[in-house]
Amino acid sequence: MPAKVRTAVFPVAGRGTRFLPATKAVPKELLPIVDRPLIQYAVEEAVEAGATRLVFITHSSKRAIEDHFDMDPELERALAESGKTELLDSLRGLLPKEASCVYIRQGEPLGLGHAVLCALPAVGDEPFFVHLPDDLIRADTGCLAQMAAEFAGHGDSVIAVEEVPREKTGSYGIVAVDDELRLQQIVEKPAPDQAPSTLAVVGRYLLTPGVFAKLQTTGRGAGGEIQLTDAIADLLVDQTVRAYRFAGTRYDCGNKLGYVQANIDYALADPELAAGLRGLPGT
Ligand code: G1P
Repeated sequence: MPAKVRTAVFPVAGRGTRFLPATKAVPKELLPIVDRPLIQYAVEEAVEAGATRLVFITHSSKRAIEDHFDMDPELERALAESGKTELLDSLRGLLPKEASCVYIRQGEPLGLGHAVLCALPAVGDEPFFVHLPDDLIRADTGCLAQMAAEFAGHGDSVIAVEEVPREKTGSYGIVAVDDELRLQQIVEKPAPDQAPSTLAVVGRYLLTPGVFAKLQTTGRGAGGEIQLTDAIADLLVDQTVRAYRFAGTRYDCGNKLGYVQANIDYALADPELAAGLRGLPGT
């Protein structure tokens, strides 16, 4: 039986320049989709999948993420005194009791692979999730829970993938797989005419701890950064890694169009907001 996955790593040190000026003082992971920040959706997905240790790889400009998950007794008292119990419950439910948060600074922005390596002291010798909060996935069963179920069957690393148009391969890790979705190759951001397929990595990984040894020797790759993709390519030399086609809809909230689309779809999924939106002039 493969080990239970209890740790989730959230690389949140990146600056989010595409959303400036909104992200000048506010971490991009705290931008809301309707009324909850992206990082809240990320944590809920990981907790649903069984994670209890939440590891944030963060940066001095991202302190507000720690505040979001911390208790705020003054605000809670004020809500209790004014009888706003629903809001109070929503604040108290941000993190389940059994979850603990670990914050590790990524001193230098050396890339996603480097960020994941920073998590090693908190993860140890266990399989773990990596969740990129920019990639929001709406699904009946969360994407990480789907991946944990898949992992329980074989114990191999699992990477979530979806098809993208060929002209977009330069924005993603791209995998080549065999008939049973075992990875044969993984390349970071290949040009469309170099890409081995159009199957793209989305921001959900369930990795065996063997990836850390690979990350320790991974040099700078695409964009001059230490890439998680390159460490996974090294891992393929001695382990099976499987691609996983998840059920659900992915929104790339790292760009404006995906972010706005997510807000529209999540609002339309809320009966009250949907009714209001449909009643607006022009709709
Ligand atoms: C990262 C990964 C890439 C993956 C993508 C998914 O890229 O390096 O392999 O396809 O996330 O969102 P980034 O979007 O951080 O440039």
